[in-house]
Amino acid sequence: MIVILLGPPGAGKGTQAQRLKENYGLMHLSTGDILRQEIAKGTELGLKAKEVMDAGGLVPDEYVIKMIEDKINQPDYKAGVILDGFPRTTQQAITLDEMLEQYNKKIDAVIEIKVDDEQLIKRISGRYSCAECGVCYNKYFKKPAEEGICDVCGSTEFKHRSDDNEETVKKRLEAYYKETMPIIPYYVGKSILKTVDGMRDIDEVSAEINSLLEKK
Ligand code: AP5
Ligand code: MG
Repeated sequence: MIVILLGPPGAGKGTQAQRLKENYGLMHLSTGDILRQEIAKGTELGLKAKEVMDAGGLVPDEYVIKMIEDKINQPDYKAGVILDGFPRTTQQAITLDEMLEQYNKKIDAVIEIKVDDEQLIKRISGRYSCAECGVCYNKYFKKPAEEGICDVCGSTEFKHRSDDNEETVKKRLEAYYKETMPIIPYYVGKSILKTVDGMRDIDEVSAEINSLLEKK
């Protein structure tokens, strides 16, 4: 199964991808996470990407397409994949279709998670993650069971993303509306787009996504 999670910054793509991974045994492929790993490793791609990401723009298509191509045909991805944050431009969507056709694969569903701008900004400003295992929390919506201690690994160290500040978030939202929203009619035309109300709580959004996928 190949599922695309589409939505603005803070919509809950990463949160829902993690749940789908656990429920369906799919691989989670987040272009944002791969780019952040490249930045942490200090690679040439990481250095180029950091500047663009901190400014809230999109990393050029050629780089992200190459990243997906390198992964999608690996044996680990045979059972299926959740694409989180890719495609993000019409060119990326078209190239993904061409790439999948080559491997006799196709997209099963594109799930658009809709959330109001005001709520997105609140979610992003409240987001933090465990510095050790990377699990994501939110100071307004999803705190660890015991304040200051990661539920998963017990670490007491947490971190914030450098692009999670108000100024950059506004730029990221602009990039979403200008460059990513035009993909929606492309997938409507292929009758694979499903829209979910991402304003509800995490469990309710998960339940709706699961029910959409079970109908597939
Ligand atoms: P990326 O890392 O993909 O960031 P994004 O799209 O801006 O999305 P986020 O990761 O911020 O949000 P999310 O939807 O995953 O929400 P989350 O689940 O964390 O990309 C970063 C950058 O990389 C881009 O700006 C671009 O520069 C570059 N890039 C990446 N892919 C690219 C591509 N294909 N092409 C070009 N450039 C690319 O949730 C957010 C918070 O809300 C969390 O704290 C969570 O706990 C909480 N939350 C989640 N769901 C709910 C809910 N239902 N109710 C309450 N709280 C919730
Ligand atoms: Mg994410």
